[in-house]
Amino acid sequence: MIELRDIARAFIVGGRPVHALRGVTLSVRAGEHVAIMGPSGSGKSTLLHLLGCLDRPTAGSYRLEGRETADLGEGELSSIRRHKIGFVFQSFHLVPRLTAAGNVELPMVFAGLPRAERAERIERALGAVGLQPRAGHRPDQLSGGERQRVAIARAMVMEPPILLADEPTGNLDSRAGLEIVELLEAMNASGLTLLVVTHDGGIGGRAPRCVRLADGVVVADERR
Ligand SMILES: Nc1ncnc2c1ncn2[C@@H]1O[C@H](COP(=O)(O)OP(=O)(O)O)[C@@H](O)[C@H]1O
Ligand SMILES: [Mg+2]
Repeated sequence: MIELRDIARAFIVGGRPVHALRGVTLSVRAGEHVAIMGPSGSGKSTLLHLLGCLDRPTAGSYRLEGRETADLGEGELSSIRRHKIGFVFQSFHLVPRLTAAGNVELPMVFAGLPRAERAERIERALGAVGLQPRAGHRPDQLSGGERQRVAIARAMVMEPPILLADEPTGNLDSRAGLEIVELLEAMNASGLTLLVVTHDGGIGGRAPRCVRLADGVVVADERR
């Protein structure tokens, strides 16, 4: 489903290149659950952004469902972001003035879904994360764990086959973090392809496969 070959990403900072990724080769099959670990600055977020088509590599090949993403135009990439890939961030990235339901509705507004279908999907997505009773709450009226569940509902409302999560428990206490991990694992058990960046060894250790990055390269790829 995901095939990276010799992926490099350099950023130019002050006229000099910063090599965030230096030749990453990695394949992920549909339905896998992969933890991505590594020290701060090792390229984990850069890798996730490339996988999510939020960024393009400087070199190398990224095939998604058999299609070379370098050959795709902006319209096709935005369709992939809308329908194929959900993204969850450490700091939730919810819109503060919108309710939980309003946040979950946003991707469907961008996708042009009719109002009745949006309402139905909001109910289903918030139900799937156990938050239907909080549909009318704004982010500042929710706990951290609840905010992340809203973010997961928003990421999943278009029913993408892949979910990418960048330190999804990084701003949560251990109990709320565990609930988020269990929720993601349950979604993976029903077929979702799941890639989770974490530097929490306890969380990484739960995944059947762990890819370790250091200094922009894969230094270990372990299956349990
Ligand atoms: N937009 C950017 N511009 C310049 N340098 C960046 C940018 N994004 C990441 N980097 C650099 O790339 C390296 C890897 O960053 P990142 O992928 O965020 O690491 P991690 O998520 O593992 O902490 C770091 O040296 C970082 O400073
Ligand atoms: Mg990061």
